[in-house]
Amino acid sequence: MSGWEGVFLVVLWKSLYFADKLLVLTVATEETDGFLRFMQSANYFNYTVKVLGMGETWKGGDVGRSIGGGQKVRLLKEAMEALADQEDLVVLSVDSYDLVFSGGPEEILRKFQQANHKVLFAAEGLIWPDKKLAEKYPAIRSGKRYLNSGGIIGFAPYINRVVSQWNLHDNDDDQLFYTKMYLDPLQRQTLNMTLDHKCQIFQNLNGAVDEVLLKFGTDRVRVRNTVYDSLPVVVHGNGNTKIYLNSLANYVPNTWNYELGCSHCDDDIVDLSQLKEYPNVLVGVFIEQPTPFLPEFFKRLLTLDYPKDKLNIFVHNNVSEVYHEKHIQKFWQENRNVFNTFKVVGPEENLSQGEARNMGMDICRKDATCDYYFSLDTDVMLTNRQTLKLLIEQNRKIIGPLVTRHGKLWSNFWGALSLDGYYARSEDYVDIVQRKRVGMWNIPFMAHVYLVKGSALRNELKERNVFVLEKLDPDMALCRNGVFMYITNRHDFGRLISTANYNISHYNNDLWQIFQNPVDWKEKYIHQNYTQIFTENYMEEPCPDVFWFPVFSEKACDEIVEEMEHYGSWSGGKHEDKRISGGYETVPTDDIHMRQIGYDKEWLHFIREFISPITLKVFSGYFTKGYSIMNFVVKYTPERQAYLRPHHDSSTFTINIALNNKDTDFQGGGCRFHRYNCSLNSPRKGWSFMHPGRLTHLHEGLPTTNGTRYIAISFIDP
Ligand SMILES: *[C@@H]1O[C@H](CO)[C@@H](O)[C@H](O)[C@H]1NC(C)=O
Ligand SMILES: *[C@@H]1O[C@H](CO)[C@@H](O)[C@H](O)[C@H]1NC(C)=O
Ligand SMILES: *[C@@H]1O[C@H](CO)[C@@H](O)[C@H](O)[C@H]1NC(C)=O
Ligand SMILES: *[C@@H]1O[C@H](CO)[C@@H](O)[C@H](O)[C@H]1NC(C)=O
Ligand SMILES: *[C@@H]1O[C@H](CO)[C@@H](O)[C@H](O)[C@H]1NC(C)=O
Ligand SMILES: *[C@@H]1O[C@H](CO)[C@@H](O)[C@H](O)[C@H]1NC(C)=O
Ligand SMILES: *[C@@H]1O[C@H](CO)[C@@H](O)[C@H](O)[C@H]1NC(C)=O
Ligand SMILES: *[C@@H]1O[C@H](CO)[C@@H](O)[C@H](O)[C@H]1NC(C)=O
Repeated sequence: MSGWEGVFLVVLWKSLYFADKLLVLTVATEETDGFLRFMQSANYFNYTVKVLGMGETWKGGDVGRSIGGGQKVRLLKEAMEALADQEDLVVLSVDSYDLVFSGGPEEILRKFQQANHKVLFAAEGLIWPDKKLAEKYPAIRSGKRYLNSGGIIGFAPYINRVVSQWNLHDNDDDQLFYTKMYLDPLQRQTLNMTLDHKCQIFQNLNGAVDEVLLKFGTDRVRVRNTVYDSLPVVVHGNGNTKIYLNSLANYVPNTWNYELGCSHCDDDIVDLSQLKEYPNVLVGVFIEQPTPFLPEFFKRLLTLDYPKDKLNIFVHNNVSEVYHEKHIQKFWQENRNVFNTFKVVGPEENLSQGEARNMGMDICRKDATCDYYFSLDTDVMLTNRQTLKLLIEQNRKIIGPLVTRHGKLWSNFWGALSLDGYYARSEDYVDIVQRKRVGMWNIPFMAHVYLVKGSALRNELKERNVFVLEKLDPDMALCRNGVFMYITNRHDFGRLISTANYNISHYNNDLWQIFQNPVDWKEKYIHQNYTQIFTENYMEEPCPDVFWFPVFSEKACDEIVEEMEHYGSWSGGKHEDKRISGGYETVPTDDIHMRQIGYDKEWLHFIREFISPITLKVFSGYFTKGYSIMNFVVKYTPERQAYLRPHHDSSTFTINIALNNKDTDFQGGGCRFHRYNCSLNSPRKGWSFMHPGRLTHLHEGLPTTNGTRYIAISFIDP
């Protein structure tokens, strides 16, 4: 054997030897989410962990907000008695609820060896709990000066000698106990104690959030301390840095990285197809302000892919104007027997938003058969019919689907909180919203849509009124209960619509939403086959240069007609017309102008968005700015005006959209182009003609012989 091989073998032997000789002791009285995360990171690195106190009642006080933690020392003392004579054993005592490993046991042992002491405590820059002790600390040239008891490493006999001195109560302070011992120069020397001043092993995050960065590797992610240029192995979210630790632990040690993506997303998933019965879900529907597209929201609720007899619906409607009542009424009448139960609480109950949200949760909490509570605000458009199933399958206590405002960075979660509990943007927020990083993210705040396990409501979240907080937003309270909240962006779930500036003083208010919610507007009002005009040349040319194509949905047609009849002041087809410049119309129709119902801005936008591209397609090279001063709906009926004599339009080109159906709504009608001796006798609802206006296309409106025919016209120029 050559000398080098010998060295190598010794090193290898030593590292294996040491790996076996590190024992992690932690105190946890409950399997909190934080504990499970700690164990996951420990198992990933193959630590040997012994958990002390599981199932015991916690008497150690509310650590973090007041002093306490003595129970941890007492349990450690009891455990160390049996290990006291194992001279080679290195014991690492750490917290677990708010701590993760970012490196393995061999690295810890190597660093411990380098520290060349028998006992090493974690250090931090803030002194706690007794500030008066500051000057008793030994001076140091650099590094963190004060002891933190969240992490201790040492040889078993020495650790035993430290903790065997404990004779206080469970609710006395552990950190004060260790601090006093450390500050006693004699003890410090005989027990050979020091602090990990430069975060070689222990990174406490309290007061040090700005010092750390994530360091991405190929198979795992570490935390790097940029001040000491160290790679700490134990990352501890002490003090009020729990939420920050949560965000680090979305990556560390192997939760997510660029190469492998999300490594725990499929852990513990539930396969719904293997269940005898689907879980019971209470869906809490919240209409907290006037909301566009409510009928479409309800339709989506109805088309969720989930057995309806497993769904119970609770609706809170806080909109006191009567506007939404017709929508709710209609949905209720049509579907009350579809769902297992259906309950509506209206504005007359005068419930605050927080009270209503609590009521929804309470209904589930108090019903032992309620497996899940699905809270859903009506500004959430779930376009993914699988959403509820996908969320249930992830098997988390609280999980929400990512939904975002179309084309915006606005979403239903916050990646970080400021120290005073308000919004802060996390570094990964944009990547998560844009689904450049895909996974399940532990986040501090979420609203609009989330799923909560009924069992969690009855246990960890059994305190009622999680929502009623005095100053904060009602949803804000959700983040304050210690249960991990996840947002998933593993699928496209849907979007958030805008409820701002929703004017409900019209008859069909969604027609006006073309600016605020263009995607939903298009989905509701534009013909299903409109895009095929471009992809498959889905249009006809019944007469020369008269193009015929689908543009409006049935809904658009119906609502425009309703809006006009609701307004009701038809012009009567007279030549005198105060609405136009000059006050005289040579070929008058019985009509209402878009401007009269306050719809001109929206209509012009519609022309620019949906008509201009067609013009460009059929009159190649002609790009219209969509400028049009004459936009109106015409009504033909034998009782008033039945036809229109031949004329030219004062436009470069004209669009003429049929708003109702021949044969069912009226008889007769149509349009004849004289120059070509060509008529279009069977208008189709929602379809538009487009033809040149001034020179070539002299035309007339053929008589409507029965019923009422409506068309929408625009003279576009240029
Ligand atoms: C933990 O142990 C397993 C099985 O022995 C091994 O495959 C794995 O690589 C170990 N993990 C680490 C991080 O060393
Ligand atoms: C502490 O122990 C190390 C060996 O583990 C020894 O080298 C060092 O001298 C000791 N320090 C004191 C102050 O006793
Ligand atoms: C509704 O509740 C608010 C605050 O709780 C109260 O000020 C108001 O008087 C109540 N209105 C009615 C009609 O009961
Ligand atoms: C909701 O109802 C409460 C109590 O009646 C009322 O104070 C509040 O203004 C309502 N909110 C909205 C957005 O209508
Ligand atoms: C809402 O619409 C009505 C009718 O068009 C209009 O009079 C009113 O000014 C609008 N309100 C707002 C806030 O825009
Ligand atoms: C769209 O076109 C398809 C055939 O291409 C047809 O079956 C469907 O009815 C059309 N949709 C509407 C709303 O007319
Ligand atoms: C116009 O067309 C009709 C048939 O569609 C035909 O009977 C008539 O003779 C034509 N008129 C002229 C002037 O070509
Ligand atoms: C006219 O329309 C009404 C209903 O719209 C229908 O009952 C009637 O039969 C129609 N008359 C003719 C002559 O088509």
